[in-house]
Formats: sequence, C-alpha cells, structure tokens
Amino acid sequence: MIDWKQVDRNAQDWIREAGERIRRALSQDFDIFTKSNKNDLVTNIDRETERFFVNKIRQTYPGHQIVGEEGFGDDPAELGGVIWVVDPIDGTMNFVHQKRNFAISVAVFENGAGRLAYIYDVVRDELYHAVKGEGAYFNHRPLPKLTERPVEEAILGINPTWLVKDSPGVKECIIPMVKKMRGTRSIGSAAIEIGYVAAGWLDAYISLKLSPWDFAAGMIIVEELGGKATKLTGEPLSILEKSSVFLAKPGLHEKLLETFLAAYQGI
Ligand code: IPD
Ligand code: CA
Ligand code: CA
Ligand code: CA
Repeated sequence: MIDWKQVDRNAQDWIREAGERIRRALSQDFDIFTKSNKNDLVTNIDRETERFFVNKIRQTYPGHQIVGEEGFGDDPAELGGVIWVVDPIDGTMNFVHQKRNFAISVAVFENGAGRLAYIYDVVRDELYHAVKGEGAYFNHRPLPKLTERPVEEAILGINPTWLVKDSPGVKECIIPMVKKMRGTRSIGSAAIEIGYVAAGWLDAYISLKLSPWDFAAGMIIVEELGGKATKLTGEPLSILEKSSVFLAKPGLHEKLLETFLAAYQGI
C-alpha cells in the first residue's frame, strides 16, 4: 500500500529544496545551451534540478517511473504503476531572460490516474497543488471550484506565436475564437498559465503543442476544481504523448469546443 500522505510530504519537501537551489542559482552565472533550435534553451540548472528530483524519487521509491523533460528519467510505454512527471523548470526562456515567471511542475499518477500535482512559482514562492479527491490549493489555502464564464467575458491564456504560425486550424478555429473572447494573456510558462486557470485568473488556456511535463500537474489541479482538460479536439490528454492542450472552466470548455473547435484538424 502506498502512503500517499507521505508521498505528498516528500514531494513538497523536494520542491521547496529544489526551489531554494534555483533561487540561489539566479544570483550566480549559469550555462545556457540550445536544443532543437536557437530559441529552445536549456541551462545546467534545468538539468541539475531534474537530476535532483530523479535521485530523490529513485532513492525513496525505486519501483516508480519518471517522465522528465531533460532525459534523466525513464521512457514508459504504458501507464501501469506509479509515474512521476517532472518539468524541472517550466519557462526556461523566462528563467534566462527575466529571472522570474518560471515554475517547477511535478505530477504523480497511479495506473494513469492523477493523484498529486504541484506547480511551484519559484521566484514568487507560490505553490498551486492538488490532492486528487481532496481539493486544490494556492499556498495551502483551498481554491474554490471553478464556475462558468460566458465566452464574451472570458480571458484566454495563449502564446501569441501560435496565431502567426500557419498550423492547421489556426485560421479556421483559433483566430475566430480569440476575436470573440474578452482578451488574451501570455506569461511564457504553460504551468503557471494553467495555475492561473486553477486560481480563476484566466478562464481558459490553449496550446497547439505541449509535452506531458508541461501540462500534467496543471491538468490534475484544474480537473480537481471541476474544470476540463482535453486536447483541442476534445479528446482526452495522455501523459505518454505530446499534443495540443485545452483547459477551461466548466461550461466554457464545452461552449468553445462546439462553437469554434469542432472543425479543429491539428493534433
Ligand atoms: C515551455 C513553456 C512555454 C510553452 C512551451 C514549453 P520549457 O516549456 O511552457 O510556455 O509555450 O511550449 O515548451 O521548455 O520552458 O520547460
Ligand atoms: Ca524546454
Ligand atoms: Ca515545460
Ligand atoms: Ca522545462
């Protein structure tokens, strides 16, 4: 039997410790590398932080698997057992350029079902977290359930670069949707933006492509509050694949899906 209260305590302790280390690193020099292209940044701090989590998880829970962005984890093909999904720094570009607006994102799944989730805004020292079936919290204060919001009054979190790319569905679905909504906001950390949906500061969030470590924790937190998290097609998200992501308040999710996204052709 898994002692989930202890897993929760461990996860929170590790996140706090990793956050301290990252805050210390901000005042020192760090190494910046590029990955798939010149704007896809990674630093030694991203890598060291992921290694920190992987070491802690492997020492404490040798039977658990880990999915992490920087490649120190495993590559599970199936959802059986316990899987930790870790983004050591979500918003690396912000980490490098702004030294703020980035987060640690950690989610724990058991046989495919989300159990625990954490988004830690490191510089603001703000924690969004959820315990499946018990509630979701901002800095340990319970968050209220999400309630409906009319499309015309809704604020959407979206990275504006999606609107200038010729990806399938943008012209047909996404631009008309943005035009109808009250406004858009972009922070540059998917995890923090999804945290904002959980806190009610954004009404919806979309991305045409994210990786599981970007959305796993946010999905659990938003769903715990009665919000909806799917692909832009309305299909369920999977922590084993990259896909589009669409999270919104209840009611608003269905409305945006049927009005604008029904014809969406992307992934
Ligand atoms: C990125 C951020 C960003 C999103 C990108 C992600 P990273 O994660 O979440 O907001 O637009 O698609 O890759 O690489 O900084 O962990
Ligand atoms: Ca990255
Ligand atoms: Ca990320
Ligand atoms: Ca990252």
